[in-house]
Amino acid sequence: MKLFIDSGNLRDIESLVPLGIIDGVTTNPSLLAKESGDPRALIKKICEVVQGPVSAEVVATTWEEMVNEGRELAKIDEHVVIKVPFTRDGVRATRVLASEGYRVNVTLVFTPAQALIAAKVGAAYVSPFVGRLDDVATEGMHLIRQIVEIYDAHEFPTEILVASVRGPMHIVEAARMGADVCTCPPAVIEACLKHPLTDIGLAKFLQDWEKAQAARV
Ligand code: E4P
Repeated sequence: MKLFIDSGNLRDIESLVPLGIIDGVTTNPSLLAKESGDPRALIKKICEVVQGPVSAEVVATTWEEMVNEGRELAKIDEHVVIKVPFTRDGVRATRVLASEGYRVNVTLVFTPAQALIAAKVGAAYVSPFVGRLDDVATEGMHLIRQIVEIYDAHEFPTEILVASVRGPMHIVEAARMGADVCTCPPAVIEACLKHPLTDIGLAKFLQDWEKAQAARV
């Protein structure tokens, strides 16, 4: 399973990429609004750092404008994936953009029916938001299981990109269910890199080693 960073913060992205575990980045208008400077210049820099798929979302709401904005976003860098919200217009825009050869990430997906439609119009990625479903007392990961089942049964090539991730267990469950990608806030990836038993175990190993060295002199 691929791991993406869900962030527009260049410093966070630059600190995680050297680990070699990051395959791409997702952004959204809210994430980019937190950062200073020109958002398109930021997307370009992120693409240069990551050298993998970087989702940049349209803010237009009619299908014609989404298509035009998507084409412009794709000019920023070859790694840009056009992110389009799942609305009626978004579905139509996705069909047009996908037919022109652009990679589209259909976002704000909350039902298996939306995921089925996104696949039918040629989305490269579908982004089900598991955390936001959990927030309203609905089991977010159940949606992933349903989409995996549908895409497997009908051999859709659309990649399932688990989004709105809140903690490491979302990553584990996504991997167990066979999702293609999990996009995570930097803090969630950092949480996976630490374990108290590893720290305690290492401290003891080093302590024992030091003691043995001291006894030898
Ligand atoms: C996905 O691409 C979105 O950017 C993101 O995962 C939304 O997550 P949130 O629910 O934490 O805002």
